Amino acid sequence: MSGHVQTLKEGTDFEKKHVPIIECKDEIAVNELYEVKVHTDGVPHPMEDGHFIQYIELRIGELTVYRGSMTQYVKPEISVVLKAPSEGHEGLKMTLKAFMFCNLHGLWTYEKEITIKK
Ligand SMILES: [Fe+2]
Repeated sequence: MSGHVQTLKEGTDFEKKHVPIIECKDEIAVNELYEVKVHTDGVPHPMEDGHFIQYIELRIGELTVYRGSMTQYVKPEISVVLKAPSEGHEGLKMTLKAFMFCNLHGLWTYEKEITIKK
């Protein structure tokens, strides 16, 4: 199952406890430090022996910028501060991608586009 990446389709509680939602600003300024949080959409995933989130990964496009390994003793969410691109990137759109991996139910993903202010 881990070779198959899933995302929100029907909004069931099963999906909501596996799909990582990205929480951050829609627009950032050049060189701005901005916080990105990744967590599930209001339905907590169990963190117990035999069933837990093993990692959360955050990418900008295809570039991995953060990866947090987890066990059943960790709350499955991350908060990371990123730095926006430098001058010359005004107007650029970037796609943030989050991945959440459940040891039983595989890999789940979500995308959010953010824009560098002009
Ligand atoms: Fe699961």
